[in-house]
Amino acid sequence: MDCQYERYFPELAGRALDPLQYYEVSWQVRREVINDLIAEGEASLPRLLSRFVNFEKRYELRGHVMEGMPTGTLGYLPIKETGTALDRLETWRKGVLRGGDSEFLEHIQFDLSGMLVDFAEGADTILELGSGFGLQLFRLYHGGGPAQARYVGAEISPAGRDMAECLARLESGMRFQSVAFDLRSPDWSVLNGSRKALIFSAWSLMYVDRMADDFFSALAQWPGEATLVFCEPVGFQWGAAHPLSRKQAEVCALGKLNGDLSAAIGKAVAAGLIEPLVVAKDIFAKSYTAFDMFSVIVCHKPAA
Ligand SMILES: C[S@@+](CC[C@H](N)C(=O)[O-])C[C@H]1O[C@@H](n2cnc3c(N)ncnc32)[C@H](O)[C@@H]1O
Repeated sequence: MDCQYERYFPELAGRALDPLQYYEVSWQVRREVINDLIAEGEASLPRLLSRFVNFEKRYELRGHVMEGMPTGTLGYLPIKETGTALDRLETWRKGVLRGGDSEFLEHIQFDLSGMLVDFAEGADTILELGSGFGLQLFRLYHGGGPAQARYVGAEISPAGRDMAECLARLESGMRFQSVAFDLRSPDWSVLNGSRKALIFSAWSLMYVDRMADDFFSALAQWPGEATLVFCEPVGFQWGAAHPLSRKQAEVCALGKLNGDLSAAIGKAVAAGLIEPLVVAKDIFAKSYTAFDMFSVIVCHKPAA
């Protein structure tokens, strides 16, 4: 099999990866793809991100497994069913829209950055929790997010932060900042100096087993106003109607998906720390997988 960017991580041989270990090594391998694109002369950040995303549509980063045991080798394997441009125009894939089954062309996307740009209006700080290599933040900025705002990628993985910093250097007009941040014990001092923030997460809070008891009460110590937007595959917490929602509940029972964001929000609302605005449950999935189907939960944190 044509494996690209193969790398061996001896510390991972023979053991199942937890999500934090997985992301730390995966951002290292992904960084190599980015390095190659930059070495080729690609200097435009929007183009670089698109080329990287296109690469990941054709190649999937996978850990090598032998007799059920991870060997410690990670690399990109070709995805078989990508087909030609014509195939893609004629192939409809099963997915979910607003809690109901639907079918999508490859070219139909949920406009996450457009949605976040709407919520970012008037914000002086845009903070992504669990930002990986900053893709959502860069897209938000390129999508027309506030030009003068501070864009903060808060991420636990050093390799993810390193990749984000490398990419941000290509966008000199963007006020990008990368901070070490653990969602399990959030340090909101990152918001100091800000009056109005958009705080969002995308497929990251899902990895926190249990929300920190003081997640919202510690945030309430910061005097500013914020819109909180959580884009996470945890709609089952508001009732599991769709089969994928029931699948999410099963995955959660195995300890692989957060199970108490809804309860933590409920407590914070009852304590008057935040106000609930909307739960757009099971809003979209472009594949028929439990992790892909996400909900958007929006709350408001009033100024003190
Ligand atoms: C699926 S990636 C999503 C990255 C980014 N939000 C995006 O949409 O491109 C999940 C990210 O969450 C981060 N993450 C997981 N647990 C975390 C924690 N406890 N604190 C901070 N980040 C965490 C991982 O390191 C990884 O970068």
